[in-house]
Amino acid sequence: EPTLDDLARDILRRNDRGGYTVPTGGLYPFQWNWDSAFVALGFAEFDRNRAWQEIESLVSAQWEDGMIPHIVFHQHDAGYFPGPEVWNTGRTPPTSGITQPPVLASVVRQLWEQEGADPSHPRMRALYAACLKSHRWFHTYRDPLGNGLVMVTHNWETGRDNSSEWDHALDRIDTSGVGSYQRRDTGHVDAAMRPTQREYDRYVAILQFGRSSGWDHRVIADQGPFRMIDVGMSMMLLRANRDLLALAEAIGDEAAADELRGRVALSEQGMDWLWNEEVGAFCSRDVITGESSGLVTNASFLAFYAGVGTPAQRQRLLDALERMGRSAQYLLPSLEAGSRDYDHRRYWRGPIWLVVSYMVARGLAEQGQADWAERIRADSTRLIIRSGFYESFSPETGEGSGGGDFSWTAAMWLAWCG
Ligand code: DGY
Repeated sequence: EPTLDDLARDILRRNDRGGYTVPTGGLYPFQWNWDSAFVALGFAEFDRNRAWQEIESLVSAQWEDGMIPHIVFHQHDAGYFPGPEVWNTGRTPPTSGITQPPVLASVVRQLWEQEGADPSHPRMRALYAACLKSHRWFHTYRDPLGNGLVMVTHNWETGRDNSSEWDHALDRIDTSGVGSYQRRDTGHVDAAMRPTQREYDRYVAILQFGRSSGWDHRVIADQGPFRMIDVGMSMMLLRANRDLLALAEAIGDEAAADELRGRVALSEQGMDWLWNEEVGAFCSRDVITGESSGLVTNASFLAFYAGVGTPAQRQRLLDALERMGRSAQYLLPSLEAGSRDYDHRRYWRGPIWLVVSYMVARGLAEQGQADWAERIRADSTRLIIRSGFYESFSPETGEGSGGGDFSWTAAMWLAWCG
């Protein structure tokens, strides 16, 4: 009888395409940015070299301006839309034209500390430089308000693709020029678990705007049709800046350390722009209209991971967690039950993603909320024992949803909840 540890390692090996890992065969047949970061934490439990290699292969596709793309198309695969010819970024290897949540620096710090935190560690030093460049890209292109928060220009950048947070902004997207295309995702998994056709048309329209600008991120940031401050990425970049600062200090890169201290302080102050007093949570907010989503999502709780919030704000977040803990069988749902368009099976409108749960639990443990951290960890363990290594899970029934044999879920078992 193979153990769950055996099965998790086996998933990572089978999803390995030679130095990088696909999130899952079929549905996501290329390398994805934040998936690879979490996958490295899984490999780190049994193959140190392979863990570093996962990140190095992602970073090898970094753009000259510093952006680390959200997908790297190392090999051809016709089973995915939108493929490299649709993005048309002109890169080798081909990549998408947008980025994804910046969790890399945090993972690099973890891997490095696991190996004794030697400041001369060559692989850490090379990745430190790449992360610094990528963070500067965010600071240059994605901070339109100058308050240290992160603007996204496509909902796919958030990694929480189909969250209801983006609905109002997507409603305004003009799809008249989209033309016809063939979706591939619904050929791999049940359409009830995926975005609707109406939503997909909007995703494609935003992509087409970027492509028509020649992927000029200055133009996209100034005029793009979708511009939101994402609470998730804002929290993750703040955390990643703290982790990168620790590396800068260890290396003795004083100039970068000063710069990063400034960025951390700016974001700590700036986060209040996302606080929604009515709902008692940090919420994503539209740059164009100023509207707050007013939704409590799993990303709202990344405030603990980022180390922000007044005592009163944190108490209100814990109240929300308490409510969610009462209404769900399992924590931590991606959207609070009862919110508009909540659906326990549909992509990012209810299901649980263990990578977000992991970051939230880490933050809670660090901020003196060990009981909540343990509840989230124990629920995550139960989900895998009940259903296996799915992409996501219903908070109501614990059933798996989305893709199966999912790399980052296997990684979270090995590195965290198993
Ligand atoms: C997809 O194709 O749904 C991916 O999540 C985009 O990154």
